[in-house]
This record gives sequence, structure tokens and C-alpha cells, in this order.
Amino acid sequence: MKRLAIYPGTFDPFTNGHLDVLERALTIFEHVIVVIAENSRKKTLFSLDERLDMIETLTATYSGASVEVLHGGLLAEYARSAGATAIVRGVRQVKDFEYEFQMSLLNRHLNPEVTTVFLMPNVKYTYVASSIIREVALLGGDVSKFVHPYVLDRLKKKFEEQKNL
Ligand code: PNS
Repeated sequence: MKRLAIYPGTFDPFTNGHLDVLERALTIFEHVIVVIAENSRKKTLFSLDERLDMIETLTATYSGASVEVLHGGLLAEYARSAGATAIVRGVRQVKDFEYEFQMSLLNRHLNPEVTTVFLMPNVKYTYVASSIIREVALLGGDVSKFVHPYVLDRLKKKFEEQKNL
């Protein structure tokens, strides 16, 4: 049986830190589904379709990876229906722990067959979070070290679009 993991997140946008975690996950699991979660509580910069397009483009050459969208519903249920035995989450700092701990135990309660696996990205991405990337990019700062050129281009276009509104 194939070891299948899901790698969920908002990915607004997908950063090099996310890519690093995905690459690490692919050394452990035969297949990893990146799951873009729709979050009604979070207003995102990029639409689901835009995020899907960016992640599909970035992972097109990764034979073990695919990308899906979770349109509402529980991740634990999604994991069950996909046949995944693991949920991959990237952790950068101690402050990530409380939230991750809570989610992993809740997900285990909802689906005892799924185990959350925490992976640490390369230390150079310790302070890279999508929120900070959005803010720096909006203010004209250079984020080229932290996102793929395709994402960088989408960020630039998005802020141009917004300026013209
Ligand atoms: O990148 P994020 O925003 O930290 O990811 C959070 C995410 C998408 C993994 C979490 O909000 C999630 O799992 N959402 C799906 C709905 C769900 O199952 N919520 C209960 C989690 S215990």
C-alpha cells in the first residue's frame, strides 16, 4: 500500500518554506497531496483558483505530489476519504506549537487513523510566513529569496491590479 500524506494549508501564497516542507515530505511518503483549504474566516489575497494555479505550476515536476482544494468540511474527513495516514505540517518556531498541538490532537480525535507529522524547513525559512511575505511585497520590499519567481510575478500583478481599482 502506498504511504499517502496530505499537506494542508491556506498557502496565501505558497512560499519557498512550503516547498521545502513538501520536498522533505516526499522523501518520507510516496505521495503527498497539497490540500488548499478554503477558510471562510480568513480573507485571502489570492483566490482558490489562483493558489491552485501557483502550486500546480511549482509542483508540476514533482512526480509524487498533487494538489487539491478542500471546499469547506473537515480535514480529518478529507484525510479519511483520500486514504491518507498522515497530515504534514511545517513548524518554524516554538510559537507555532500551541496551535499545531491543538489541531493535531483534534484531528486525531476526529480520525484516529491519521497521524500529524511535523517537519522543520531549512533554517533560512524560519521567519518566512505568507502573511509577512504579503505585507513586505505590498510595501514594495524584495521577497525574491522567499518565493518562487512565478509567485513573485503573481504578487506583483496582484498589487498592480489592486492599485488600479
Ligand atoms: O496554513 P494555515 O492557515 O495555518 O492552515 C490551517 C488549516 C487549513 C490546516 C486548518 O485551518 C484546517 O485544517 N482547516 C480545514 C478545516 C478543519 O478541519 N478544521 C479543524 C482543524 S482541527
